[in-house]
Amino acid sequence: MAAGTSGAKAPGKIEIVINGVEASVPRGVYLLQALRDNGVAVPTLCHHKDLTPSGVCRLCVVEVEEGGRRRMVTSCT
Ligand code: FES
Repeated sequence: MAAGTSGAKAPGKIEIVINGVEASVPRGVYLLQALRDNGVAVPTLCHHKDLTPSGVCRLCVVEVEEGGRRRMVTSCT
């Protein structure tokens, strides 16, 4: 799975590319939520809606490409 930015178009939104498909997601939302809102199933273990994101289990790691650079990030943080 890969996600990256492709620029902003609508106010309050950011354009990203998820697995090769462009998507418009709210600015400031966690990547995990953006992926799930766009139909991508991301497994989690330590993530819970009532807890502060900690990023300790690493189960939700995804590849992000930005500015030609790729890195692995926890999507929940
Ligand atoms: S769900 Fe545990 S690090 Fe993201």
